[in-house]
Amino acid sequence: MVGMFEWHESYAIGIGSIDAQHQILFQTASRLRDAMLAGNGKAAVGSILERLLKYTESHFAHEERLMQLYQYPHLAAHKAQHEALARQVRDFHAKFQSGQAAMTVQLLQFLKNWLVGHIKESDLKLVPFIKNKAA
Ligand SMILES: [Fe+2]
Ligand SMILES: [Fe+2]
Repeated sequence: MVGMFEWHESYAIGIGSIDAQHQILFQTASRLRDAMLAGNGKAAVGSILERLLKYTESHFAHEERLMQLYQYPHLAAHKAQHEALARQVRDFHAKFQSGQAAMTVQLLQFLKNWLVGHIKESDLKLVPFIKNKAA
């Protein structure tokens, strides 16, 4: 469990902005895990969870803008994956805020698996279509 959200070179896809945002997502998720493991209060954990949710949504919007710009043929399917995850995180955030759900290692593990799987499967497929790799 140590380093659950540690960045690994194998997660890099070679598009500057996307790799940088993925690293921030991992860092933010790691902060969330630290706060949970430290037993920090609901307000502190909730604020990091909210930051993670907002950052995830802005990252997804960035990828969707790039996909649109470069006329990526599988934009709809990719966007649907983003929307499904964002909905799950939003729902969890609402339940967390209302006291109906607690932060758990299982949830963080789910998020980690989703991120790694999505990056290596779906995000990687964008690479041949993104002409400006420094985008
Ligand atoms: Fe991504
Ligand atoms: Fe994506």
